[in-house]
Amino acid sequence: MAIRRILTVDNAADTAVLKQISAPVAEVDDGVRALMDDMLETMYAAPGIGLAAVQVGDVRRVIVMDLGDRVLEGEDVAPEPVEGEAEDHSRRNPRYFVNPEIVWASDEIYAYEEGCLSVPEYFDEVERPGKVRLRYLDYDGKAVEEEVEGLFAVCIQHEMDHLEGVLFIDHLSRLKRERAVAKVKKLARMAA
Ligand code: NI
Repeated sequence: MAIRRILTVDNAADTAVLKQISAPVAEVDDGVRALMDDMLETMYAAPGIGLAAVQVGDVRRVIVMDLGDRVLEGEDVAPEPVEGEAEDHSRRNPRYFVNPEIVWASDEIYAYEEGCLSVPEYFDEVERPGKVRLRYLDYDGKAVEEEVEGLFAVCIQHEMDHLEGVLFIDHLSRLKRERAVAKVKKLARMAA
């Protein structure tokens, strides 16, 4: 396993890749599993709770997530990631999604303050369906269908947007989006 560089919106080259539409995976083979292993390690190291392959520069329809043991339903699902939490392996619950599709979404809308490893340190509220029914292939290539809600539903819809070249800031006003990108650029300049 290897930690890969996460593409961010502060530069044109990364942004161009992040806007690409990811291609379906023909078969979940060892190569795809190696990608998922790298993505998971990269996500844990960041730390984050979800990552799409395009964020590490691989434009295939692959997503990893780990919500740990966070409560996955109801109104009260917004615990911020706790410092050092990703280090607690006992709370790990890795999930893998290949070629995910949403086959049903609720009319009921859920608002959540989202963030993204490609837009570091910027958070804003996005509204999405509160419940969705998913179809995807898992780590072993087995077809799964499941209904999810709360933070799980937020996270998978956010990651699936990445597969279409869409970032969560694309759901915001142009002013907020420009502010977010400016903030990430400033961070990158400070880190350089
Ligand atoms: Ni993201």
